[in-house]
Amino acid sequence: MDTHVVILAAGKGTRMKSALPKVLHRVAGLPLIEHVLAGAAALSPRSMTVVIGHQADALQAALRGRENVTFVVQEPQLGTAHALLQSENALRGASGTLVLLSGDVPLLTADTLKALVDWHAARRAAATVLTAFVDEPTSYGRIVRVGEQIARIVEEKDATPAERQIREINSGIYAFAVEGLFDAVRSIAAENAQREYYLPDLVSIYRQRGLNVETVTVSNADEIRGINSRAELASVGRVVRERKNAELMAAGVTIEDPATTYIDRDVTVGPDTVIHPFVFLEGRTTIGSGCEIHAGVRIVDSAIGDRVVVLNHCLITNSRIAEGASLGPFAHLRNGADVREGAHVGNFVELKKTVFGAGSKAGHLAYLGDATIGEKVNIGAGTITCNYDGVNKNQTIIEDGAFIGSDTQLIAPVTVGKGAYVGSGTTIRESVPAGALAVSAGKQRNIENWVADRKKKSGD
Ligand code: UD1
Ligand code: CA
Repeated sequence: MDTHVVILAAGKGTRMKSALPKVLHRVAGLPLIEHVLAGAAALSPRSMTVVIGHQADALQAALRGRENVTFVVQEPQLGTAHALLQSENALRGASGTLVLLSGDVPLLTADTLKALVDWHAARRAAATVLTAFVDEPTSYGRIVRVGEQIARIVEEKDATPAERQIREINSGIYAFAVEGLFDAVRSIAAENAQREYYLPDLVSIYRQRGLNVETVTVSNADEIRGINSRAELASVGRVVRERKNAELMAAGVTIEDPATTYIDRDVTVGPDTVIHPFVFLEGRTTIGSGCEIHAGVRIVDSAIGDRVVVLNHCLITNSRIAEGASLGPFAHLRNGADVREGAHVGNFVELKKTVFGAGSKAGHLAYLGDATIGEKVNIGAGTITCNYDGVNKNQTIIEDGAFIGSDTQLIAPVTVGKGAYVGSGTTIRESVPAGALAVSAGKQRNIENWVADRKKKSGD
């Protein structure tokens, strides 16, 4: 049987107090709506339709290029039943099961969604409501049962004091039989406290018609938490992180302090890697096995090989680090830095768009930008590639085995040949042939007694 997913995301999200649409706020590096779309994808749906309204343009732009997602606009926003109706055209001719999700409920697991769809199919239900038992049911719709059977859902604002005591709530997630659904939704009236078309009213309509309405109850009510405020965004973010950390630990990664470890959903980490406290692994980062990532490190969209050691407080973005390399403390690698096998990039060294060859070392205080550095090169402290002439960024090439003395400036474009030496304090303006020694500083002059003579002159 076909499954179709509809995601409601037209609401305003007033309590976020934000210029950004609510479902574009991020948890664990991804917009809320991306978490929901990823959960939905686990159902292998025939179609996914997102109902947008408030800030529709911003949402569509953010999700541009996603195949298999159709957008429909709800304008004005007259309630959840009205929102679902907007997907009718997009689903014309569809059959099977429609799964309705909320764009602001990002914690729902694939297992729960599958359980909902399976139960719905097995019971041949017209509708199946995902419910949960919570200690604080305020603001949710309550599940009113007659005997075992769900009879209707009543919203907080329309509930009697007795109904408000009910702790079983509507998650706002449902499975529906597509057949007859839209006609039934059209029959929903807005006769309630909020003058809105309430989708949950479908339950009593179906029950009155003698149709089968089922419920599936989630065991962990965390899964159906929706986000309405910044505080809820933060607490849901914590749950997403806990899940990711638990998953990695189960797969053999040591995380010393999960409470201060922030790993985005799509990050991968190999077994026997040790992650110290206050580490951030973001975006599409991959980390190999047997690595040691020390405290205070942030790695974004980068690929780290096996057995790499990253000492404290490194920032690594859009870069590649090959196996056995060591970095930091306080190294900054960015914009296509490519550190090869066994290389060492030490304290206060910045690499930008630079290939740093296997076994090469830059121990301290260097800026290496727009450079291609060969194997087993030694870069002394204070070396700077002067890559920018005010107009263009120019290339520096340092060939295998070269030795660059401390406090060298390489004024690009320039090449230092294989095995060449550059004396300390040299300003390299012209290329250095392989095997040569380059020095540019003048001969040193010592002026004897200069300090005492100066004192005498100034009469101190
Ligand atoms: C809804 C349910 C409530 C349930 C709760 C779970 C209704 C009437 N009530 O209440 O029973 O316990 O969810 O969180 O459905 N939306 C639109 N267009 C609209 C209105 C809403 O797209 O016109 C979207 C929102 O963006 C949101 C979702 O539908 O993603 C739920 O809307 P919201 O206003 O948050 O519903 P609740 O009042 O929380
Ligand atoms: Ca509401």
